[in-house]
Amino acid sequence: MSSTEQRLQDLRNRKARSEAGGGQARVDAQHNRGKMTARERMEMLLDDGSFQEIDALVEHRCRDFNMDANIIPGDGVVTGHGTINGREVFAFAQDFTVYGGSLGEMHGLKICKVLDMALKTGRPVIGMNDSGGARIQEGVASLGSYAEIFFRNVRASGVVPQISVIMGPCAGGAVYSPAITDFVIMVDQTAHMFITGPEVIKTVTNEVVTFEDLGGAMTHGSKSGVSHFTANDDEGAILLARELTDLLPQNNLERPPDKKTSDPIDRSCDALDSIIPDVATKPYDVLDVISEILDDGAFLEVQADWAQNIVIGFGHLGSHTVGVVANQPKVLAGCLDIDASDKAARFVRFCDAFNIPIITLEDVPGFLPGTNQEWGGIIRHGAKLLYAFAEATVPKLTVILRKAYGGAYDVMSSKHIRGDYNVAWPTGELAVMGADGAVEIIHKRRIAHARNAEQERARLTEDFNEKFANPYKAAALGYLDDVIEPNETRRRLARALEMLLDKEELRPARKHGNIPL
Ligand code: HXC
Repeated sequence: MSSTEQRLQDLRNRKARSEAGGGQARVDAQHNRGKMTARERMEMLLDDGSFQEIDALVEHRCRDFNMDANIIPGDGVVTGHGTINGREVFAFAQDFTVYGGSLGEMHGLKICKVLDMALKTGRPVIGMNDSGGARIQEGVASLGSYAEIFFRNVRASGVVPQISVIMGPCAGGAVYSPAITDFVIMVDQTAHMFITGPEVIKTVTNEVVTFEDLGGAMTHGSKSGVSHFTANDDEGAILLARELTDLLPQNNLERPPDKKTSDPIDRSCDALDSIIPDVATKPYDVLDVISEILDDGAFLEVQADWAQNIVIGFGHLGSHTVGVVANQPKVLAGCLDIDASDKAARFVRFCDAFNIPIITLEDVPGFLPGTNQEWGGIIRHGAKLLYAFAEATVPKLTVILRKAYGGAYDVMSSKHIRGDYNVAWPTGELAVMGADGAVEIIHKRRIAHARNAEQERARLTEDFNEKFANPYKAAALGYLDDVIEPNETRRRLARALEMLLDKEELRPARKHGNIPL
């Protein structure tokens, strides 16, 4: 063998060692748990043959705990770039077969390199997490690399989309990188996120809890709001990451890509004419309204199982990606509460950062009353949503379907906080509060002194409803641009969106605002 051939062979051996990860037994164990390996995940995420690996030959430099006898090139994370439906992205996948995917100094710096390159080139980053957390043997060097990642996640926030897919353990401080990223996708049963695990919890608080109950996909998808999507398996999670990436721009200087549709923009939404029940307290499903309006009825709901009194998600209108925020009358009558405010506020800020127009569908009786809410800080949390809508400069289109009461009227992308196109259906009710409450307050004495209090109350309520529970006062003041027939909603919104696409709205220069966190 010539020396050149020897060198070539040496390179191939090194690459093969890197590709073998923690060895066949650990790969088999990974498969037996229903999990794919890091490389299989990477191949599935990216278009066929597009993956270009970087840093396959990086090694850790820990010399304690006999670690120098156990060096696996690549150091437990596969990193690089490739394409998703032809558009370039950066990605990394932690390899649980190598030191349990634990993050040591060099493992962390490999992720940092990917984040740096994504920021330099304006490409999204998709991280696939499957890790025992900070590599214990590397001590503070591991913590240092974590912090370097967190810093880069923050620096890239609002510049390039960042998506985290959790496909195994994600414990301790390791959770904070996904938490900073824009979207967290968790795999049911195999993904677990927690700051302190069941054993520590038992020691400290005496609580007994399983991994799944503590930090499984269902918990974070429905209780904590940490995750945005739940997938049944690795493949489902990866396909979701691809679908999401397809909807988004590469960075904050671009518009999201258009998705051609054969759904006519002037399609009449006849079903909407009868969707609002005759009885004001009767609910309906706002998801039916959303799918009627959007192209081909397609809607990717975000955080579908958490704070269900508000619905958020993505779709297309006249081929353009849009974000939808909608009160859900089916849950808590569509009231705004702490979680709903947090959920929608973060979504509005994401859309604004990435030039995604926002469509708001409003049917909200107000903020949820109660000591739980007040003591939990609904003032502070509700203010986030108000702040987010007011701060957003992307095209903002609002349709009031039914109730728009009280502060919630102002908050939900009203004209006054610079909604660009605000309309209502004839069923819209814009008032400080519902007729029942209003009559009790302003006609208290009159009702008390009436010969028949019940009859008087009913008469006054009917009178209030007639005068105020409609959209025409607001239309007369120009707070609404029009009152439209429900069937024309898609056509009118699509036309308004086309008109608004080139909108520019400047705000005073500042370092940053101070959103009430
Ligand atoms: C080094 C680790 C490791 C770690 C796992 N391994 N976690 N090595 N550092 N943090 C190794 C194991 O030694 C084992 O090596 C292999 O990975 C697989 O681990 P198992 O325990 O056999 O797997 P499993 O039973 O599936 O359990 C997985 C696990 C458990 C739940 C993740 O390993 C675990 O609890 N690990 C520790 C988690 C943790 O407390 N991390 C630190 C959190 S604090 P072999 O050679 O036997 O295959 C933290 C701070 C971050 O992360 C700070 C940032 C601010």
